[in-house]
Amino acid sequence: MTTLLKFDRVDAGYGAVKILKGLSFEVEEGTILGVIGPNGSGKTTMFNALIGLIVPTAGGITFGGKDITKVSPDKRARLGLGRTFQVPRPFENMSVFENVLVAAVHGAGHSEKDGARIAKGALELTGLLEKAETGAGTLTLLDRKRLEIARALGTEPKLILLDEVAAGLIDAEIKDIMKLVSDLKTEKGLTIIWIEHVIETMVHSTDVLMCMSDGHELLIGDPLSVMNSREVEEVYLGAEEEDEAQ
Ligand SMILES: Nc1ncnc2c1ncn2[C@@H]1O[C@H](COP(=O)(O)OP(=O)(O)OP(=O)(O)O)[C@@H](O)[C@H]1O
Ligand SMILES: [Mg+2]
Repeated sequence: MTTLLKFDRVDAGYGAVKILKGLSFEVEEGTILGVIGPNGSGKTTMFNALIGLIVPTAGGITFGGKDITKVSPDKRARLGLGRTFQVPRPFENMSVFENVLVAAVHGAGHSEKDGARIAKGALELTGLLEKAETGAGTLTLLDRKRLEIARALGTEPKLILLDEVAAGLIDAEIKDIMKLVSDLKTEKGLTIIWIEHVIETMVHSTDVLMCMSDGHELLIGDPLSVMNSREVEEVYLGAEEEDEAQ
C-alpha cells in the first residue's frame, strides 16, 4: 500500500486561535478514511488545512510524497485535491453542467474542450447527466449534494474530500450517496476522506475510521472497533453534556 496523504503533528487555526493540535494521521491510496468527532472537534478545519485555506503553524502535510504544507490552494487543487463544502454552494444561476465545467476549467486549469469531457463524465458518475441543463438553484438537496461531488470530480482529483454529504438526507437518499461514494472508490480508484455524523454510514462505508477530539486524533483504526470503543463513546457523551450545560 502507498501512503497518499500524511498529516504530521499539525497545529493550525484561525488567527491566534489554535484548533488543530498536533493532528497526525495517514491515508493509503485507494481507501476511504471516515472522520467522526463531536461538533467543533476540528474536522472541517482539518479539510481547510488540507486544501490550503489555512496554513499550519507547526507540523507538516505530505501529499503524494510532496511536502504541501505551504503550497497555495490553487496548486494543491492541481496536484489532485478535490473538496466538497459542508453547506453546498453551487453557482445558483448556472446550469448543473456549467457548475462542473467551471470547476474543471477554472479550478483545475483544463481547456474548455477537456473540461466539457470531464464535466460530462462527472455528471454521468453522479447520476446528474439528465439534469445537465437544469438550473443549479432548483435542485433538491440530494441533487445538490451530488452536484457538490460532481464539482469536486471536475478537478480530476486523486483525493476527494467529502464534508457531511449525507447530512440532512433521509435514509433512502443516504443509501444513494453511500453507493455513489463506493463507486468513486471502486470505479474511479479514488482515495476519499469522508466526514460524517451519520455513524451507521461510516461503519459500512469506510476502510479506516478516525475519531477527532479537540483538534487531534483520538482513535484511528478498524471502523467497527473505533465506533464501539469506550474513548469514542465518552467523547460523544462529554460533548452532549457540554451542550446541555449551555
Ligand atoms: N473561520 C473560522 N474562524 C474562527 N473560528 C472558526 C472558524 N471556523 C471554525 N472555527 C472554530 O473552530 C472550531 C472547530 O470548527 P470545525 O468547523 O473545524 O469543527 P467540526 O468538527 O467540523 O464541527 P461540525 O461537526 O459542527 O461541522 C470551532 O470551535 C469553531 O467555532
Ligand atoms: Mg464541520
